[in-house]
Amino acid sequence: MNIKPEVKKGIEAICDSYANEPSPLMMILSAIQKKYGYIPLEVQEVVSEKTGIPVAEIYGVVTFYSFFSLNPKGKYVLGICLGTACYVKNSQQVVDKFSSMLGIEPGQTTEDGLFTIEAIRCIGACALAPAMSINGKVYPKVTPDQVGKIIEEYRKLGAEA
Ligand code: FES
Repeated sequence: MNIKPEVKKGIEAICDSYANEPSPLMMILSAIQKKYGYIPLEVQEVVSEKTGIPVAEIYGVVTFYSFFSLNPKGKYVLGICLGTACYVKNSQQVVDKFSSMLGIEPGQTTEDGLFTIEAIRCIGACALAPAMSINGKVYPKVTPDQVGKIIEEYRKLGAEA
């Protein structure tokens, strides 16, 4: 995949804006993630050319931190908390139910581009465990039985949008 010239320019401009930072990589990658939504290998290569940081190092950072993504995310990001409080209240079963109903694993996006499943860490709603967030909106005490209804709700929303 080749990236568009205007995207390449945008990435280079982001790199330039952090050129004087002593260790700019995290800042550059955060800005790219925020602006473009994901950081594929082609983009990492541009960052590497501009900064002199090896692609392997950049790839290591992008894949280590869950808030960076190699692939475009779906319109609705289903973040199910697997932090301790949620995990002991069976949030893994909620992840599994979403996975089986949507036919994707955590970290993957449905072919229609509507849903991404993410297994996430504590979102600060432990009293409401098991909790999940959908595009930042927190859903409390989610059970596997509710998963079908949640998917339907967002499918309808996606169709209307
Ligand atoms: S552990 Fe899930 S919200 Fe805190």
